[in-house]
Amino acid sequence: MGATHLLLCLSLFAVLVQGQNCNFFEGSWVVDNAYPLYTNCPFASDIYNCQKFGRPDKAYLNYRWKPTACELPRFNGLNFLEKFRGKSIMFVGDSISRDQYESFICMIHSAVPNATYRQTSRGHIIIFEIPEYEVKVMRDQNVYLVDLMKEQVGQVLRLDSIQDGKSWLGIDVLVFNSWHWWNRKTWDYIEVGGKYVKDMNRFVALETALTTWARWVKANINPQKTTVFFQGASPTHYNGSMWNEPKADKCIGQTQPVLGTVYPGGIPPELGVQKKVLSTVSNLVKVFDTTYMSLFRKDGHPSKYNPGGNTGGVDCLHWCLPGLPDTWNEILYNLIIS
Ligand SMILES: *[C@@H]1O[C@H](CO)[C@@H](O)[C@H](O)[C@H]1NC(C)=O
Ligand SMILES: *[C@@H]1O[C@H](CO)[C@@H](O)[C@H](O)[C@H]1NC(C)=O
Repeated sequence: MGATHLLLCLSLFAVLVQGQNCNFFEGSWVVDNAYPLYTNCPFASDIYNCQKFGRPDKAYLNYRWKPTACELPRFNGLNFLEKFRGKSIMFVGDSISRDQYESFICMIHSAVPNATYRQTSRGHIIIFEIPEYEVKVMRDQNVYLVDLMKEQVGQVLRLDSIQDGKSWLGIDVLVFNSWHWWNRKTWDYIEVGGKYVKDMNRFVALETALTTWARWVKANINPQKTTVFFQGASPTHYNGSMWNEPKADKCIGQTQPVLGTVYPGGIPPELGVQKKVLSTVSNLVKVFDTTYMSLFRKDGHPSKYNPGGNTGGVDCLHWCLPGLPDTWNEILYNLIIS
């Protein structure tokens, strides 16, 4: 092999190792005792704090996500704070966003445990700030992204209106998420184009709302200034048939991920709806495609180890902290910093 060839091979190898040509969302779970990234986070809410509520097994904490084509660089909180100095990131969505937000502040706080921090709120926005680095991590609890408004007829979900968007302006990195609440009926009417209906197909409703959201993004986001991510639907594990264990009682007693690289239950249809709309704004929004890696983690949920657990509440929807959202954030860190 000539010197030029060798050089070419070496630089190709370097590119792969650095992950520039690597899809971080394709890979598999490997055991790694250098995880979790933190323990005992003071910011983890009870519903995510499985160890506090007596979860006895710990193996679920020792997994690392290994992308097929590269290594995922490990999260480095100090590096993040230095590179992100003076900037802000906001998680917008439901309690899955809150899970990820709390994971994120746990991860950066554990890097600088002695740095002072402030946690404040402004309306439905929570702000976590480390003044020494002028870094702000925020959360907007907003489950549908479009407006749910009280009108004379009752609660109206307005699929063609986003008034809350003003809270998202001027933030450097936005991470959106919306799916689970489309499965619940919290409205009396759904309104679209001035027409009111009691209910409609939830996938169609989601697609219509996300199309409104995409229109908001086109009108308001300058990609030179703001990085926008939309997170793929976070899966639940209530039905053992989905992982070839039909006798399983929800996610109770699951201590291991599903093994292999194919999830028997397949990719949930809501991700297809999300990706269809996101493809219309692919120049402005990056798909944060964590659905596939999360499907395997039937062991990652609070199950009975949550505040409602002793009264029968089994949670196979949220994720323990430390746990899976730390991996989402490890990927997010690499996408933001690179
Ligand atoms: C934080 O402060 C404690 C007590 O002063 C000290 O022992 C520890 O090393 C400090 N940690 C870091 C990461 O600076
Ligand atoms: C679980 O999934 C299987 C396969 O998709 C389905 O046939 C079954 O009805 C589901 N069970 C429940 C309780 O939803």
